[in-house]
Amino acid sequence: MNWKMDPNKYKEHQHRAQVLRNHTSVSPAMRARALRQKPACIWFTGLSGAGKSTLANALEFALHECGLQTMLLDGDNLRHGLCQDLTMSAADRTENIRRVAEVARLMVDAGLIVVAAFISPFARDREAARARFAPGEFIEVFVDTPLAICEQRDPKGLYRQVRAGMIKDFTGVDSPYRRLKPQS
Ligand code: ADX
Repeated sequence: MNWKMDPNKYKEHQHRAQVLRNHTSVSPAMRARALRQKPACIWFTGLSGAGKSTLANALEFALHECGLQTMLLDGDNLRHGLCQDLTMSAADRTENIRRVAEVARLMVDAGLIVVAAFISPFARDREAARARFAPGEFIEVFVDTPLAICEQRDPKGLYRQVRAGMIKDFTGVDSPYRRLKPQS
């Protein structure tokens, strides 16, 4: 790394190099065994109004009714706390998904079945989230509701405000949603 180019990056790099990981006596596998379940993160993605939160909520309820230990992470809720400093700019959406993926990772390490609902519009951010998990632990569900239907539903009145020019950078309107490339 050329630290002379960016002293802040160098400081961050040095700091990371000085913080080593501690060993923990209780492993994620031991926590999962204690809860008698297979931890996973089920990640709903799609446009605002697509039905992500409704589906995620129904799924968590069904899993909970089966006696499983679950946690729901929802974009609208986390933006009131952990992510309240973030805007809807592309860079902040990336940071939003990075933070949430880290939280989901910790919860999966705690043995939980995490159900997440975030627009998460950028495929590269969803792929970075997936990379935080073991193979098969991260299940992405694209709620493929067309924009016209989302706009017709407009459960929070946001599309109306977008069309009135009151909200900018709205996903599907003037900010992109990037689908995953089809697997060959
Ligand atoms: S994400 O793009 O960073 O993944 P997230 O899921 O956390 O978004 O939050 C999206 C929620 O914020 C939507 O459900 C919607 O209610 C609200 N919202 C406010 N402004 C916007 C916008 N410009 N684009 C999309 N959603 C918005």
